[in-house]
Amino acid sequence: MAEERVHNAAFRHRIMDADEAAGLIAHGDVVGMGGFGPGGTPKALPRALARRAIARHEQGEPFAISLLTGASTTPDVDGVLARAEAISFRMPYMGDADLRAQANEGKVAYVDTHLSRVAPWARAGFFGKVDVAVIEAALIREDGGIVPTLAIGNAKTWLEMADRVIIEVNGWHTTELEGIHDIWAGDREAGARLPVVSWAGERIGGTVLRVPPEKIAAVVRTDEGDLGQSFRAVPDATRIAGHIIEFLKHEVARGRLPEALPPLQSGVGNIANAVMTALADAPFENLTAYTEVIQDGMLDMVRSGKMRVVSGASLYLSNVQAAAAKADMGVLRDRLVLRQQEVSNNPAVARGLNCITMNAGIEADIYGNVNSTRVMGSRVQNGIGGSGDFARSALLSIFMLPSVARNGAISSIVPMVSHVDNINQDVHVLVTEQGLADLRGLSARRRARVIIENCAHPDFRPQLRDYLARAERVDGGGGDTPHLLGEALSWHQRFIDTGSMRI
Ligand code: COA
Repeated sequence: MAEERVHNAAFRHRIMDADEAAGLIAHGDVVGMGGFGPGGTPKALPRALARRAIARHEQGEPFAISLLTGASTTPDVDGVLARAEAISFRMPYMGDADLRAQANEGKVAYVDTHLSRVAPWARAGFFGKVDVAVIEAALIREDGGIVPTLAIGNAKTWLEMADRVIIEVNGWHTTELEGIHDIWAGDREAGARLPVVSWAGERIGGTVLRVPPEKIAAVVRTDEGDLGQSFRAVPDATRIAGHIIEFLKHEVARGRLPEALPPLQSGVGNIANAVMTALADAPFENLTAYTEVIQDGMLDMVRSGKMRVVSGASLYLSNVQAAAAKADMGVLRDRLVLRQQEVSNNPAVARGLNCITMNAGIEADIYGNVNSTRVMGSRVQNGIGGSGDFARSALLSIFMLPSVARNGAISSIVPMVSHVDNINQDVHVLVTEQGLADLRGLSARRRARVIIENCAHPDFRPQLRDYLARAERVDGGGGDTPHLLGEALSWHQRFIDTGSMRI
């Protein structure tokens, strides 16, 4: 019962159903939603909002909102609202196929930006005024403290900026979540203070969100778990994980990394999860993580004691793990810290902690530049997410990708990336299932050789070697970073024209 979770009278007086609450959102409103990925993402209200949009469109009236979030959401938010044509502006990250199609058709204005920047930019006014905040909570305490669920995202900022606040109180989550969150208040202090986190487990704030009672517009009851992630054991991912573990062991043996490794950051998806799963059997103990998403593999290490503490933005779990975490939360809570993304992804903190960061890419070029976001240079896939927040600040920045895509028709190692998100200076190590390239300290020409020989698929190596050799013969020696400009992007054009990058 919602009432059992809503212990404060000001909130209790506003309990209503999702359709009534959706009626409080108007065409053109800027809506800030809490959460990060599936974690903390509202559920009933977005679906009700989509119904409202469809009804308004059927009456010949316009209805679309600007949607600001923490990161991606779920198909029940971005997908449902996109199919209802209810989103006109979206930022800062997304992962839904329908919304992606609308962004690529130019129907939705999409701002893809570093996740740590969202809250400061929102407060500075770059996204305009926030009309409504929609936040998921596990519990409203008697003193009005709002206990978030499996992620905070930018909830604190939306609550502070919005005129009206809608809270979804989700009875599926355990109330044992109280105490897992760490909500830093320094974001509102003059002088744009930076958070200081001296080790991954350090807490620097309070445990609940707050909102003035006069802003509470609606409280909606829900009772459903997050849409679970499904992780697959992908052979390429397992090989990538193997190369990374061998490399880390080598770095420890050379005395370049401590035995417990610096705090780990791990990106989204199967490859990142496979690396964490492989680490569980590797000879490292007392690990810590200062990361963005906490996936199944990392949580397993917390359970086994291999990982001492994990600080992150969001629990991004399969259904099985989410149910297990719910049952164990009273115990796990001491070793997990969930932070607002302005802190979890803060580059200053990541630099201070000297993290090892591991993120996936779409393609990389022979000089080590990584495209994480645009397929064939133009079509947005998801967005940069937190990869840039972490990569620039890392002690050791690793990028991972399979060497080929689309059944081998595409080489993920190309002469020149068709779009750049993470520049070669921020890519210390590149790894594919073929092998690993340690790029630290290497000139551009040397990087090209190591990437071609260690990371490219054998089928594409002759083409890449030929490109490099001809580029190096350009008048004047080819330059420090040799390229044939008329040919550099011809691999992509060939794929568009013929369906394959192969000559
Ligand atoms: N050229 C063209 N297309 C390519 C490609 C390449 N070299 N490599 C992959 N693709 C396509 C795939 O075919 C797939 O297309 P589809 O959606 O039409 O099927 C799509 O790109 C995604 O590829 P997939 O292999 O499913 O990737 P993934 O799920 O492992 O995600 C990223 C990889 C890079 C898209 C994802 O990690 C991402 O969004 N990263 C940026 C954000 C980030 O790093 N966040 C974490 C920071 S903490």
